[in-house]
Amino acid sequence: MFTDDKSLFLTGNEQKVKIGWQPGFARVLKAFYLSLKISMDSTALKNKKIAQLVDENYVHAYVLYYFGIRFDEFPEDTLEQTCNRKGLKVEQVVRELENPTHLKEADLPLISYPVDLIIEYLKHSHFLFIKHKLPYIARLVNSFKAEHEDYNAVERDLKIVFPLFVEDFIQHIYEEEDTLFRYIKALERAVKGNFMPTKLFYLIEKHSVQKFAMEHEVHDDEMEGIRRITKDYAVKSNSPLHVKVIYNELKEFEKSLITHARIENEVLFPKAMALEARVKQMFFEKAKLN
Ligand SMILES: [Fe+2]
Ligand SMILES: [Fe+2]
Repeated sequence: MFTDDKSLFLTGNEQKVKIGWQPGFARVLKAFYLSLKISMDSTALKNKKIAQLVDENYVHAYVLYYFGIRFDEFPEDTLEQTCNRKGLKVEQVVRELENPTHLKEADLPLISYPVDLIIEYLKHSHFLFIKHKLPYIARLVNSFKAEHEDYNAVERDLKIVFPLFVEDFIQHIYEEEDTLFRYIKALERAVKGNFMPTKLFYLIEKHSVQKFAMEHEVHDDEMEGIRRITKDYAVKSNSPLHVKVIYNELKEFEKSLITHARIENEVLFPKAMALEARVKQMFFEKAKLN
């Protein structure tokens, strides 16, 4: 359809004058445009091939994984075809791809939190690492078939080193929860007057937050070996998609570990040391009185 209506070529401000611009009308127009854009984007996502979706954003592989879709299973199928085959609602998967809810890390002012809440927060992160992230990365590593001369050695080494890293990491987490966190919780109860003197004496004789903190520093670079194997997670634009996804996940996992260790080193340990000092002082003053 052709028109000689010159108003189509007017600038934004000129058009506002011509059509008697009203803010209400602008809002309706904007909302209409946005809803149109969202539905167009959703349609675009539905029609994309799985490999393309993942290549555009590696996090998509993780989202798909939680819907039971392996990105390397039928990479040439579209999202819609894959969802139909798996009996999934494509709209739901699209919504999650556009706005992944489970990936958002809470941005909490932890420094102002009491120590028991910080421990709960750290335990929750441990749970997410062990039950969500690591199984996903382990699957990526296990199903990794390099079939590329640049990555054959990487495949071999990762398959050996990654399970060892996981073993050490899980050990670290269990030790933390079973000894350090338990000790700190006992200190917290003691400060509130909730303790048995003999048990408490035994605990503060046996443990020291300072010692835990020093040992913790030693564990800080747990992913050094993996970094070396992957040459600092460097990928090229022509690297195989599987390599891009694995390296990106490993890099992001390392970032999460660094943040986690920083919370332990910079928030938990200083608070626990202060608690321990208070408990010791309280305990020995009480002993002097007896
Ligand atoms: Fe931890
Ligand atoms: Fe730790």
